[in-house]
Amino acid sequence: MNKFAVLFTSSIGRKLVMSLTGLFLCSFLIIHCAINACLFINDGGLTFNAAAHFMSSNILIRTIEIALFAGFIIHIMQSVVLTMQNKKARGSNSYMVSNTAASKQSTNMGILGTVLFFFIVVHLINFFIGLRFSAAYAYGYDANGHHDVYSNIAAVFSQPAYAIFYIVCMIALGLHLHHGFSSSFQTLGVNHPYYTKLIINVGYLFSVIIPATFAAMPVYFLIKG
Ligand code: HEM
Repeated sequence: MNKFAVLFTSSIGRKLVMSLTGLFLCSFLIIHCAINACLFINDGGLTFNAAAHFMSSNILIRTIEIALFAGFIIHIMQSVVLTMQNKKARGSNSYMVSNTAASKQSTNMGILGTVLFFFIVVHLINFFIGLRFSAAYAYGYDANGHHDVYSNIAAVFSQPAYAIFYIVCMIALGLHLHHGFSSSFQTLGVNHPYYTKLIINVGYLFSVIIPATFAAMPVYFLIKG
């Protein structure tokens, strides 16, 4: 079997791929969060719509978007296979203690990952499909001729059910990132007293700041009405 195939079929290879795709998705979250923070600028969404337009019309970013979707799919597929393999291994080793901290952690990550999967599906239906694939975007254009994505977001988040769903999902995201961030570096072999502590602290900050900023968006529109 060649080295590339080993990456996708061995247990350690799968973990490595999950770590790399997970960190790649983290970098997407930083950019997505920074662009979306323009929603807080009090100009009726003109800056945000311009930023969203730039992101969707830039050829380099459109190409990275394909890698992003591939990253999501690979990350999810590897986690499902790893979870199934771990369950099978525990089943055939009845003497193994299955409720160790590591096993509980991976069950939690699986549950949080499933919540996030449903979040992404709802999220793409809310904001991506209509914008990118409908012949006539339901929210029209702003004064600068850009798609009025701001009004799309305001319309969704002014509905309490959606706002609460997004806020709850951001808590799940925070918990998922809290474990996932530092564990990715551990899988990649970064194991040094100084760096490990730094990674844990950066991971902690990351898992609080990014989800809290995202969660502030539905709160903002809910209050604005
Ligand atoms: C709660 C605040 C959020 C808002 C207001 C928001 C808004 C948007 C909008 C308007 C789009 C369409 C952009 C376009 O196609 O031009 C989009 C796409 C997307 N969002 Fe979000 N988003 C939020 C949070 C998240 C989170 C937390 C994740 C991941 C866990 C996420 C993942 C995605 C993905 C994968 C896409 C499709 C790729 C892309 O267009 O970049 N979003 N989001």
